[in-house]
Parts: sequence; C-alpha cells; structure tokens
Amino acid sequence: MSTRIIAVANMKGGVAKTTTSINLAACLAEMGKTALVVDLDPQANATSGLGIDPRALEGSIYEILLEDLSFEDCVEGTSVKGLFILPSTPDLGGAEVELATAYGREHRLSRALEPHIDDYDYIFIDCPPSLGLLTVNALTIATEILIPIQCEYFALEGLGQLLENMDLIRQHINPNLELGHILLVMFNSSTNLSKQVEDEVREKFGDKVCKQMIPRSVSLAEAPKTGQPITKYKPSSRGAVAYKAAAKEILAAELNGEATAQDEQDETEETITPEKENKTEIAGVDLDDSIDSINEENRDAANNTTEAIDVEPTENNSMIEAKTSSEDSTNEIKESEEEPAKNSGRFKRWRINREEG
Ligand SMILES: Nc1ncnc2c1ncn2[C@@H]1O[C@H](COP(=O)(O)OP(=O)(O)OP(=O)(O)O)[C@@H](O)[C@H]1O
Ligand SMILES: [Mg+2]
Repeated sequence: MSTRIIAVANMKGGVAKTTTSINLAACLAEMGKTALVVDLDPQANATSGLGIDPRALEGSIYEILLEDLSFEDCVEGTSVKGLFILPSTPDLGGAEVELATAYGREHRLSRALEPHIDDYDYIFIDCPPSLGLLTVNALTIATEILIPIQCEYFALEGLGQLLENMDLIRQHINPNLELGHILLVMFNSSTNLSKQVEDEVREKFGDKVCKQMIPRSVSLAEAPKTGQPITKYKPSSRGAVAYKAAAKEILAAELNGEATAQDEQDETEETITPEKENKTEIAGVDLDDSIDSINEENRDAANNTTEAIDVEPTENNSMIEAKTSSEDSTNEIKESEEEPAKNSGRFKRWRINREEG
C-alpha cells in the first residue's frame, strides 16, 4: 500500500484538528499500522499531547524547514508502538515570515519528508489554523485533506477558502491532492444545532462525510494533559470508541470502499449513533456538561490529585455511574521498555541508556 499523507486542516481555530490528528494516528498504530504525526503548528499541541515537552527538544520541524536539520535527528517515538511524531516548538511561529523569502518555500516539508515516506503507512499533518505557508507546505505533500468540522455555529466559515486553496494547489503544485474526509466533531446530541450542522454538512459534502461522528467528551479534552491519546488514557470512553470507528472508516476507504464484510460488521457495531449517545442524557441533561462539575468536586475531594472520572452510559439508563480511574489518568508518561524504532530520537536515548546502565 502506498502511504497516505493526510493534512488535517481547517482555518478555523479550536475545531479538533490536533485532537483528530493524534487520535486517528494512534488508533491506526494500534491496528498495527505505522503512523507519523507531523506537528506543523507553533502551538505544538500535538507534540505535548503525545507526551513530548517542546522546550526540551534539540531538533524540531522548525530546524527541518529552515536549517536543513535531518529528519532522523528530529523524529521521536511515543508511548504508542508504531506511532511517531515530528515535533514542533514555538520557534515555528517565525517560520511563516522566514519562509516567505526562502528558496523553494512551498516544498520545504516535502523535500524533508520524501525520503522517509515509505517508512510509514499513514502520515498525519496537524496544520495551524490559517492558510499561510505552513499549511501550503502541508498541502504540497499531502495526498488528501481531512477537515474536522465542529457541530457549532459558524462551522462552515472559512471552508470555502480552504477548498479554493486546495484547488489552486492541485492545479499548480500537487495534482495528487484530494478532499479525503470530513469528520464531524464535538457532536452534542442534546442540541438541535448539532443536528442542523450535521444535516447541512452531509447535504453539501455527501459521502465525503464520515458516518462516524465524534461526540463532545470530557475524556477527549482531558487526554492531552496526560500526554496520551484517548485510546491509552481512557480506552473504553465514548471518545476512544468513536475515534476507533472513524479510523476504521478511513482505513476502509483505501480499499476503494470494498471494506471486507468483517470490517463493515465491526463498523456497524462500533459506530456511536446519536441514539446510543442519547443514553448519556437523562431528563434532557447532557452528562458531558455535568461531568465537568462532577470532576471538579471529585478533584477537590481527592485533595487536588489528578484523579479523573468518566461517566459511561448504564444498561438501563436509570442511574448515572461515576467511576474513578486514577491509574488511567496519571500525568506521567513512561518511556516504553521495548526497543523503539531505529530511526527515532527515542531510539538514540534508549541505546545510550542501555549502554550506560
Ligand atoms: N470531542 C471533543 N470533546 C470535548 N473537547 C474536545 C473534543 N475535541 C477537542 N476538544 C478540545 O477542544 C479544544 C480544541 O481542540 P484542538 O486543540 O484539537 O483543536 P485545533 O483545531 O487543533 O485548535 P487550533 O486551531 O488552536 O490548532 C482542546 O482543548 C481539545 O482538548
Ligand atoms: Mg491544533
């Protein structure tokens, strides 16, 4: 299979580009694929969300783009086997200006990635919330764009401009670029607004829109502070199940829609439908909203520990069960004891540690 390079883009901010990049890549890695997340945002949220401190880095995407540092010197392993990250730092904030006058400015990322593409099944590029040169670099090498759309007001704002840019880049720079998927995120089944946005987006974009939607979920918002994807932080939470199902849909697309019968069956079983999601609503109360306050109380009670709680739907819908899960919510990311991939920065540290100790 040839590598799919997916630019996760939307010029609107805070619409789960990073959350989607991290979690889809992690789900695919857990399914046995090799995945790389390229953090192309100076906010470095994908970097910290995967447990790497941007301030402690010796090499990052900034040096790759502007100082010709090698890919091998920057790539890092993560707590998920088969998942790697090309990290970012706030230095990247200057890159838009510095790239503006640089030679081959649109191709900097593709030149750096090209020799390594075949090492991965999937590359997710987490784009910043703008259509500047960094995003153009992502679209120059991507094979497809994945657009997360938040089920809120102004959801489609800026989308026209992104699609126009996509067309321009396809015409002039990268003929392989396609609109891959649209993923509806932060879906809240207790509001008509979410449903209206869903209907509007499905009407406009048809089967480009993933059947699976990502619900609004406290666990998804909490996971980045632990440096883990949702599948590690809360593997059975609604957010984890939803991202796994979305990853399967994206995986199935590469078989040209000819997903195996088993895949289709799994997909049906795992899709979180609004009906299933309604189980978390009792007497019109959206539990996800109320979980926030339960969490606050729980944290206070636990003397400001990082213990977190998640509320899962119960069989008979008659009561809310709040369960604590302190093992899952640890802030510490332990380095994997296994041998990391040979080309990762972590491999170098792992080898030094082994030689020293
Ligand atoms: N399904 C969800 N439910 C609840 N919170 C979510 C969900 N998805 C993302 N979030 C939270 O929403 C915020 C914005 O998400 P995220 O950082 O992924 O968006 P972004 O598009 O990458 O933002 P930016 O444009 O700033 O890069 C984060 O705090 C994230 O934890
Ligand atoms: Mg982001």
